[in-house]
Amino acid sequence: MCSVRSFVTDDLFNFNHVNLDMLTETYNLSFYLKYLSQWPEYFLGAQSPNRECMGYIMGKAEGVGENWHGHISAVTVAPRYRRLGLAAMLIQYLEDMTEEVHDGYFVDLFVRISNLLAINMYKKFGYVIYRHVIGYYGSEEDAYDMRKAMARDKDKK
Ligand code: COA
Repeated sequence: MCSVRSFVTDDLFNFNHVNLDMLTETYNLSFYLKYLSQWPEYFLGAQSPNRECMGYIMGKAEGVGENWHGHISAVTVAPRYRRLGLAAMLIQYLEDMTEEVHDGYFVDLFVRISNLLAINMYKKFGYVIYRHVIGYYGSEEDAYDMRKAMARDKDKK
């Protein structure tokens, strides 16, 4: 069982066990506060009955003209709560928000090219590899820019 609700500032004191994962990026405080203040509708957390953070998604709306879109900045689920459909639910939520609130053309994200689990998950959800971004993670690794067209992109550009 879990409850899903908007992320709040205090949740930042409660998500270390989720971020202690080599594939989960941890940003500085101002990064999270900017997302919370500018795109609160895109920052959602799943909570267990004992108020433990099970996972979260954070994102934003950005772009100009036909590039107006929703962006998944991070989606992560604590190891003990994986494979329960939480990521699927959080990503679906962000897509719904992009279509119904922001009327975006697509949703995109960047993922490490070695993160095959996540790449295959996104493919299953309808995302395609749009481009290969060399050096996105510095000298460490490249990224795939993956995208999924929303209803507004009638020609699936
Ligand atoms: N092995 C194979 N397929 C897997 C999988 C695994 N361990 N975990 C997820 N999937 C695929 C499956 O197709 C699954 O659908 P199914 O359960 O119906 O078969 C689908 O992804 C959705 O699974 P879900 O339960 O919603 O995912 P999750 O809540 O376990 O979270 C991640 C998936 C990727 C968010 C989680 O593993 C995680 O936090 N990883 C570390 C952070 C990360 O890589 N984030 C993405 C970076 S862009």
